Amino acid sequence: MKITIYTITIAALILFSACSTKSVTNKHFTPGAIWLDNNNIHINAHGGGILFDNGIYYWFGEHKTEGENGNLANVGVHCYSSTDLYNWTDEGIALAVMPPSSRSDIEEGCILERPKVIKNKKTGKYIMWFHLEPKGKGYKGALSGVAISDNVTGPYTYIKAVRPNAGHYPLNVPDIHKLDSPALNLSFDGGSLPGNVDTLNILGRDMKEGQMARDMTLFVDDDGKAYHIYSSEENSTLHIAELSDDYLSHTGKYGRFFAGRFMEAPAMFKHKGKYYLMMSGCTGWNPNQARSAVSDNIFGEWKELGDPCIGDTTQTTFHSQSTYILPVQGKPDTYIYMGDRWNPENAIDGRYIWLPITFDGDRFTIRWNDKWKIEE
Ligand code: GAL
Repeated sequence: MKITIYTITIAALILFSACSTKSVTNKHFTPGAIWLDNNNIHINAHGGGILFDNGIYYWFGEHKTEGENGNLANVGVHCYSSTDLYNWTDEGIALAVMPPSSRSDIEEGCILERPKVIKNKKTGKYIMWFHLEPKGKGYKGALSGVAISDNVTGPYTYIKAVRPNAGHYPLNVPDIHKLDSPALNLSFDGGSLPGNVDTLNILGRDMKEGQMARDMTLFVDDDGKAYHIYSSEENSTLHIAELSDDYLSHTGKYGRFFAGRFMEAPAMFKHKGKYYLMMSGCTGWNPNQARSAVSDNIFGEWKELGDPCIGDTTQTTFHSQSTYILPVQGKPDTYIYMGDRWNPENAIDGRYIWLPITFDGDRFTIRWNDKWKIEE
């Protein structure tokens, strides 16, 4: 009898531990909830984007940590893989920050945000671009970093960080920007300029060293050309810049859009031949009302379409900020809005807001849904 109870207890314990380590299978998206990976750990890929490669989705994003410095790059860029978009396998750190002694641009404690990865079909390489701020300098650097790998999940090798398009005027350059710019000493307060964007020659100020580049995304067009889209000119104006054939540098061809509108968090997608952008305003980690725009050509003319969020009574993009719009493979009209619900007090606990995109004439719209799945 004793042996029987003992045996039953051991069997129960084995069963319990097997059940508790088994990963949960997700069948829905539950925006804002803790999203567990295959190891039952909340996915850690903030400000992220997705690459679909050889039948698998790869999600890259900022690995955040606990505590007050959790938004700094203490670890690197995290990668996860999935075949169904609901269940994600931890693929580890794709781009690791370097030790403090390394004096690398991407040393531990720098700011490394909004990483995006694209594949170059000609070279077969995977290219990652990200917003980089050197350690200890706040957000003054406004640099774009680039890294490369032969394998989608990495390890990625850091190449360089640049201010894009030094020495080049944009396609749609206003005359004032061709004038010699006096040394403009702007003190940026996160959402406005000390003057009119049309008369302050920020572009000219940065002509020699290259244009500022903070929040960013990448977009690969049907013809294989890739574009880097970033908040520039003290965040006041969005730049859309063509990348070179190897995707490792800027060609000097770029346009400036939404001058003085302070657009951040850009996400671009193409639907039925039209280019769409979703962006936020500029309020740091606090959410604000989303914006959207459409164009027949990537270099404009861009037409603003207003807030795509329907029923968002607090006008906060459902308490999130855009990071990517994902085309679902094999479903030409199916796109998913991917946003971040930041938690600056405990960055690792930031949540993901994924919602379905719907089309309404020329515009796209987003509605809240507590629990949803891609229509079969
Ligand atoms: C947000 C931006 C984030 C991060 C944050 C810092 O506006 O979208 O990526 O830079 O500001 O305050």
